[in-house]
Amino acid sequence: MTNLLTQSAVERLNSPLARRVEFHDEVASTQDLALELAHAGAPHGTLVISRIQTGGHGRLGRSWGSPPGGIWMSIVLRPELEARYAPRMTQAAAVGVAKALHEIGVEARIKWPNDLLVEGKKICGILAVGGPAARREKTYQTEFVILGIGLNANLDPSDLGVSVEQAATIRSVLGHDVDLLELLDSLLSHLEHGIRHVKNFEPILRDWREFNCTLGERVRVRRSGQDFEGLALDLNPHGALRVATETGTIDLFEGEIEYVRPHSGDDGSE
Ligand code: BTN
Repeated sequence: MTNLLTQSAVERLNSPLARRVEFHDEVASTQDLALELAHAGAPHGTLVISRIQTGGHGRLGRSWGSPPGGIWMSIVLRPELEARYAPRMTQAAAVGVAKALHEIGVEARIKWPNDLLVEGKKICGILAVGGPAARREKTYQTEFVILGIGLNANLDPSDLGVSVEQAATIRSVLGHDVDLLELLDSLLSHLEHGIRHVKNFEPILRDWREFNCTLGERVRVRRSGQDFEGLALDLNPHGALRVATETGTIDLFEGEIEYVRPHSGDDGSE
């Protein structure tokens, strides 16, 4: 028998990332709601989760289909983190999601910066948005980070309003549905572990390298109106992607990448 995902069931998980739970049947966007709550002083570990989102969105304002059956959630984090380490949060979260998925047999890979893919199709998107930075002693600290996770679980790729070539779901990968409460429990505990290691980043970096599908790829980078190509070399200690380009090596703290597949014939084939 599967557990129902309800406010009290989520509260009973007793996760430090769900100290305060806002469970909804329907909201426009858990991310927007969590952001409002954070500005109003919501504590670390405020979890906003909804069965449906009517205005879910991802990076660069793209819309994010959120019908019933997925895990659509945003967490208010107050990690006392230097603002320059903020990109690490996305990578720590990506590792956490990858671990939770591998545990149930879904071999997802991390595509920098914030996607989890199964056989090239997106199964989860991560949206980490930093709040204002405030000066503390000699550094600038992010007051809060809203960590948004959209995980396609018990639904069909065709429910998502994007091309089925682009999307995967747990149901499409495993051929059956999973217990969403158990999945959320595991997800929160892996995320909590990742977030705890955001300052001492080495273990996350190691796991990220193991789970990624970006390093060693030729990538086309889109960053602030600039397009260029290069070879993805590594993740640097701050969570930035190190890319070798014709004019030198750069560290990408933000941006979009596309894999450059060899054209047919490049490898000698037709
Ligand atoms: C991306 O791939 O661009 C990130 C997608 C993030 C989607 C999640 S779903 C829960 C939360 N609420 C939103 O509106 N967005 C995030």
